[in-house]
Amino acid sequence: MEVTPLAPARRISNRPAQHSELRLWSSCPDTLDSVLGGSSQIALSFTHDIRPLFRDSPDVDTMKDFGLDLSSYEDVKAKAAAIFERLKDGTMPCDDPWPKEQVALFEQWMEEGMMP
Ligand code: HEM
Repeated sequence: MEVTPLAPARRISNRPAQHSELRLWSSCPDTLDSVLGGSSQIALSFTHDIRPLFRDSPDVDTMKDFGLDLSSYEDVKAKAAAIFERLKDGTMPCDDPWPKEQVALFEQWMEEGMMP
C-alpha cells in the first residue's frame, strides 16, 4: 500500500513576533475574549500615541530651531529623558503645559521601551 506522507505544517508567516505580540501572549490568556479584549496590553508606539501629542506648530516648528525635532522618532527617543523632565515640570511646552495624563502617557511609552 502506498503511503502518502503528511504535508509539513504550514508556517503562517516568517515574520518574527513583534514586541506587542509577545506582550500579548506572555499574559497567557485563558479565553478568546481576553485575547480580543487585550488591546490594552499592546505597548504604546511613537507613531500612534506620542507623535500626535506634539503640535506641528508651535511645538515641532519651534523646537527644530533649538536642535530638537519632536516629529522624529530617533530624536525624541534619544532625548526622551530630558523631554520628560521638561514636560513633567511644566516648563515645556512653554505656552500650555501638558495635563498630567498626557505626561504619564509619555512616561509609560519610555517605560515600555520606546516603540517606534
Ligand atoms: C529637552 C527638552 C526641551 C528643551 C531643552 C526645550 C528648550 C526650549 C527653549 C530653550 C525654548 C526657547 C526659550 C523658552 O521659551 O524657554 C523653547 C521653546 C519652546 N518649546 Fe521647548 N524644549 C524642550 C521640549 C519641548 C517640548 C517637549 C515641547 C512641546 C511638547 C516644547 C515646546 C516649545 C514651544 C511651543 C516653545 C516656544 C515658546 C514660545 O516662544 O512661545 N519644547 N524650548
